[in-house]
Amino acid sequence: MTASTDDAFVVFDRVQKSYDGETLVVKDLNLSIGKGEFLTMLGPSGSGKTTCLMMLAGFETATHGDILLDGQPINNIPPHKRGIGMVFQNYALFPHMTVAENLAFPLEVRNIGKSEREAKVRRALDMVQMGDFGGRRPAQLSGGQQQRIALARALVFEPELVLMDEPLGALDKQLREHMQFEITRLAHNLGITTVYVTHDQTEALTMSDRVAVFDDGRIQQLAPPDELYEQPKNSFVAQFIGENNTLMGTVKEINDGVALVELDDGELIDAKPVNVAEPGERTLVSIRPERVEISKDRLSPDAHLIHAEVLEFIYMGDIYRTRLRVAGNEDFVIKTRNAPDQPRLKPGEKLEIGWLPEDCRALDA
Ligand SMILES: Nc1ncnc2c1ncn2[C@@H]1O[C@H](COP(=O)(O)OP(=O)(O)O)[C@@H](O)[C@H]1O
Ligand SMILES: [Mg+2]
Repeated sequence: MTASTDDAFVVFDRVQKSYDGETLVVKDLNLSIGKGEFLTMLGPSGSGKTTCLMMLAGFETATHGDILLDGQPINNIPPHKRGIGMVFQNYALFPHMTVAENLAFPLEVRNIGKSEREAKVRRALDMVQMGDFGGRRPAQLSGGQQQRIALARALVFEPELVLMDEPLGALDKQLREHMQFEITRLAHNLGITTVYVTHDQTEALTMSDRVAVFDDGRIQQLAPPDELYEQPKNSFVAQFIGENNTLMGTVKEINDGVALVELDDGELIDAKPVNVAEPGERTLVSIRPERVEISKDRLSPDAHLIHAEVLEFIYMGDIYRTRLRVAGNEDFVIKTRNAPDQPRLKPGEKLEIGWLPEDCRALDA
């Protein structure tokens, strides 16, 4: 789902933020989020994700620019009037209240009557499969159960927009994966617009309609998960998302949408020019482990092949993972299916590898 500014539910328009009046931690944010969209802000620690969420929630003010919610500027609307549900990593449930009282609280604040309140609390508890836990106190729940209650509390007043900041960071892997599924299911079933923050790329790729990759206060790329993985726009995104092999070289020529690159060890390869334009330019070429070909069958007869030496071969059940030395890079990884026609390589073995030009991206150095 892609949002144009017209039907956007949330709009950041040239938003900047500085805490100290000097350094911009959010540099020039332009982002439109569609109604019902699940958008994830993904990026390393300190890249400005939480700051963006806090501005949207109303706990921080933008230094410059506007934030619109359903077409209305919200700069001057206090947090509790924005009608936004929120879940954070440190899910501060009220410890002195029962689970049911915790959930009733946002409804009381909104002056919803007792019987309607009770019905909504019950429905919210059922939604996160915690229907029997209304009488407990938070301290009597596991971390995962508390996080479900925090989620139910954010949804109980049926907000149109929910913000989540690393909500699963404290949970173990299995529960985290289960909750990822629960959250996306609930958000889609209820038609809620969700802005989700994480530094975990797998979480971002599996949950989102679109992902905004942040670095250094800027969006480096905004795209659906498959596009982000398969068509990274620059070397930051290529290296941040998924496993990735990189080689350094210089562009020799660009013909018919294919760049001929001379690697630093003198070998020639074919790549798709993404953000290189001229012969002579330095480039970092990027290729995914599963796109490297060790057999020539799928390659054109004139494809450039380069030399590789096997350093390590790991049997992983469904795939083989092989570490190679390629053009001086000793961490060049390839993945091959475990299938009868795929060889099991041995350390010390020499081979030639290649790829389709469109599978290898010539990026900024
Ligand atoms: N309340 C604050 N006061 C001053 N600096 C802050 C504050 N909150 C965050 N920062 C700084 O702003 C930058 C972005 O932080 P943050 O938005 O929390 O990033 P992220 O959530 O991506 O880790 C960091 O350099 C951080 O130190
Ligand atoms: Mg943060």
